[in-house]
Amino acid sequence: MKSLKYLLFTVLLIPAWSCLGAEIAVRDGESIQDAVTKAEPGDTILVYPGSYKESVYIDKDNITLRGVVQKGKWPVLEGEKLRNDAILYSGNGITIEWLKIVEYKGNAIMGQSGNNYVIRNNWVIDAGVYGIFPQFGVNGLIEYNVLSGIEDAAIYVGMCDNVDVRHNEVFDSVAGIEIENTRHALVENNYAHNNTAGILTFITPGLPIKTTYDVIIRDNFIVNNNTPNFGAPGSIVSGVPVGTGVLIMAADDVVIEGNIISGNNSFGLVITDLSFITNVSSDPESEPNPDNIQVLDNFMINNGNDPVAEVRALMATRLSTTGPDIMALGTAGEEDNCLLNQQAYRTYGTKKWGVCDRTTTADIVSYQLPEPAPARLIENDQDRAAHLYNGICAGCHAYNLRMIGPAAMVIQALYHDDPEGLAEFIAKPAKIRPDYPEMPPQDYLSPELRLKVAEYMLKLEK
Ligand code: HEC
Repeated sequence: MKSLKYLLFTVLLIPAWSCLGAEIAVRDGESIQDAVTKAEPGDTILVYPGSYKESVYIDKDNITLRGVVQKGKWPVLEGEKLRNDAILYSGNGITIEWLKIVEYKGNAIMGQSGNNYVIRNNWVIDAGVYGIFPQFGVNGLIEYNVLSGIEDAAIYVGMCDNVDVRHNEVFDSVAGIEIENTRHALVENNYAHNNTAGILTFITPGLPIKTTYDVIIRDNFIVNNNTPNFGAPGSIVSGVPVGTGVLIMAADDVVIEGNIISGNNSFGLVITDLSFITNVSSDPESEPNPDNIQVLDNFMINNGNDPVAEVRALMATRLSTTGPDIMALGTAGEEDNCLLNQQAYRTYGTKKWGVCDRTTTADIVSYQLPEPAPARLIENDQDRAAHLYNGICAGCHAYNLRMIGPAAMVIQALYHDDPEGLAEFIAKPAKIRPDYPEMPPQDYLSPELRLKVAEYMLKLEK
């Protein structure tokens, strides 16, 4: 009997342990980046309470970066408003959890085309442009994070597929949660309050991924999103009206269900085509209309108490000064969208909408994949350049419109015969345009890769 147990133990448990990888401890005064340099795929880096004044770049697969919170003391990554990003990762299978991240200029946690990411239990305060920002990743989970004071989106899921965003709290930011150029996203049980806008899903034209569809926004608290817009002038979110609960722009197959949406001063939910906040320098490949938007049962109350001038003007046509719970603008009123209980809401522009034929999305529990996604295939230099451009540059540069940075077309005109000059700029960007933020240096890329991505950017056609 004993030997049988022993046999089971060795056969079953030892292999399980041995693939767990090693643990590497980082303590106050040491560097997290040094630990990443030492780590092998499969390892866990444990960061003990202390102050870490650095930017961390993870370019390996299957690394867990885990803070250890002891007696209420956190490991704190401090940007001191000097550093750009707290954590950048480009590996697959990266987990980042239990870290406090404060006062960076760029992003708190940015994923650059890593698949199978998990970002949870982090606490992010005043971290610049984007708080948690997985870009161009397949299969992810973002949960139990608390973020505040972000100039653009606290949680920005950009050009991703298959992601669950749940149980996060986002506040005092311009956009709370943003699902952009992304497919199969479940946004559930989050608390989005006191932002300019709570939860947004839309298409930004001019990016390599052209669509947003299959988004469920379910069982969230979306309240009092009335913080004046402090987004960088010219950026897309700087055009979002203060007092927006939920914004759907040009996205398709979106379900809004079971949310409590209240106290948002312009409107509870606005559904619109691309003309709403972009001066759509049209991208022929991005279809501008919101199709198949389904508003199921939600609790919407006390929205529209102090709407922005544009909403006030529209409501004046109805002899009202109060914004609606639900407003359909532009082609949103014409398209094939539906409401489950028209009479439960104060609406504007939804007259032509039908009654939804489904009542719930309860059958969809998660949009994560059942198995990890394979890493993206990189067979040659061209693939690698595309991978870098999509994973990094497209976070701030669209082809033909201003995002955080100038349009790629503008850059092509400046550098068309000078890829070396472009490659040099991105290693050490200078502050050029007074009305743009400074571009963060991309000096973690080797000179060869910088040149590759420069050449790629100059050849972009859409
Ligand atoms: C976090 C946002 C961000 C990311 C990521 C980013 N950029 Fe930029 N980029 C900017 C901003 C903002 C400017 C404008 C800076 C200015 O004019 O002062 C800019 C400007 C530029 C310029 C214009 C230089 C000039 O002389 O006018 C080039 C070229 C450029 N970026 C290339 C890239 C490439 C290539 C990548 C990817 C490796 C990239 N950028 C990633 C934000 C970003």
